[in-house]
Amino acid sequence: MPKTKLLLVEDDQSQAALLALEIRRAGFDVEPVKSGEDAVAKLAGTLYDAIVTDLRLGGGMDGLQVLREAKRAQPEAEVLVITGHGSIDSAVDAMKHGAFDYLTKPVQPEELMLVLQKALDHRSLLGEVRRLREEVKGKYSFEGIVYSSPEMGRVLELVRKVAATDATVLIQGESGTGKELIARAIHENSARRTGAFVAINCGALPEGLLESELFGHVKGSFTGADRNKRGLFEEASGGTLFLDEISETTPGLQVKLLRALQEGEVRRVGDNHPVRVSARVVAATNKDLGKLAREGKFREDLFYRLKVFPIDLPPLRVRPTDILPLAEHFLRKARKKMAAKATRFAHEAAGALQSYAWPGNVRELEHAVERALIMASGPTVMAEDLPPEVLPPSLAAPPKAGAPLEEMEKTHILDVLQACKGNQAEAAKKLGIGRNTLWRKLKKYGVDAK
Ligand SMILES: Nc1ncnc2c1ncn2[C@@H]1O[C@H](COP(=O)(O)OP(=O)(O)OP(=O)(O)O)[C@@H](O)[C@H]1O
Ligand SMILES: [Mg+2]
Repeated sequence: MPKTKLLLVEDDQSQAALLALEIRRAGFDVEPVKSGEDAVAKLAGTLYDAIVTDLRLGGGMDGLQVLREAKRAQPEAEVLVITGHGSIDSAVDAMKHGAFDYLTKPVQPEELMLVLQKALDHRSLLGEVRRLREEVKGKYSFEGIVYSSPEMGRVLELVRKVAATDATVLIQGESGTGKELIARAIHENSARRTGAFVAINCGALPEGLLESELFGHVKGSFTGADRNKRGLFEEASGGTLFLDEISETTPGLQVKLLRALQEGEVRRVGDNHPVRVSARVVAATNKDLGKLAREGKFREDLFYRLKVFPIDLPPLRVRPTDILPLAEHFLRKARKKMAAKATRFAHEAAGALQSYAWPGNVRELEHAVERALIMASGPTVMAEDLPPEVLPPSLAAPPKAGAPLEEMEKTHILDVLQACKGNQAEAAKKLGIGRNTLWRKLKKYGVDAK
């Protein structure tokens, strides 16, 4: 714990010396100054826990001005004022301006210490409340979103604003920039957070199946429809429906989506009765949807209906200050998952991460860090542990042809293991070797084989 730091503003030398002595004896740091001007200069450069100021000071500024400046520059510091005998009006004035308490001259050192302790207790209590408040806020807001760039700061500001509404949101950004993460953040910060967050990838299903997934169907509406089924619009009523890869929908489905958005109702496949739905829609795309609309490849009316509140996620290369915080975040995450050892990046590795262009954005960075952690043999991730494409030419390894067979085997095995998300049984099958063989090899590479 750092020492408690006080600023003492008192023009009366002997009084200042007496109080300073007492304050130091209590174990606090104190800086005595003689004028309001000196106090303001100190306030600009040092953070104080409390400020004790005489109200009447020789010179241009009085204690009330010091109080005001302290409350402006360091609102969390507690201010105590010392008033002359019988000038109760100015003491009241000071309290109105945010002073914690006042003392009348001549100030007894024990009295000062008593009031000071109370002020410091009050301050730490406020700090505790604020910390708790932030912790609670953190839980419900941007958990798991790591950033330090102003670009992402602006994105999260938009998220905060739109979360308070029911507006349809269109998130646009290159692959791997975090679109789904942002969609979830909108849901988690909205009044709908108690409802469901339902995500569907519109590019992954053929038209008919997607329609029945989204809108539901009635029994017998097509072969295999052996019972009535609610669609995702209904499932997400009161919550959020995330339509990923919206550009991949067919014109026929786009008409139906438009109707659902405009009228707030859907029709199950094979049924003509409309069902009211109240899902909030967040759509995402890694294409330029406006361009597709202009080219006639996406319905323009649906585009405008979706774009009520657009959020553009910048690619990682335009926010390079996010790279290292993200890399460290993924290192911590992967270390837990894989029980690996490395805890930090070597200087050159960090440099390589920062100067690479990351065409696959955050997702590519996450995979690169996971792979590097598997490759790393000590407590530090070295540049050569990173995927070769990440390395600048100056650090790149010599051509693979010259690499020892064993080295190539290791790289291949680890790549396959990663593709199988660490599942050794699956990796062994893919590699065409027994589980025990794989286990033995991993052990030899120093990968913690569970
Ligand atoms: N700012 C961030 N902080 C922490 N993790 C992030 C951040 N941005 C992205 N990620 C992680 O990166 C990965 C990719 O993010 P996500 O799936 O949201 O991207 P996407 O834009 O939907 O990608 P795609 O277009 O490929 O679907 C996820 O594992 C996600 O958790
Ligand atoms: Mg996605």
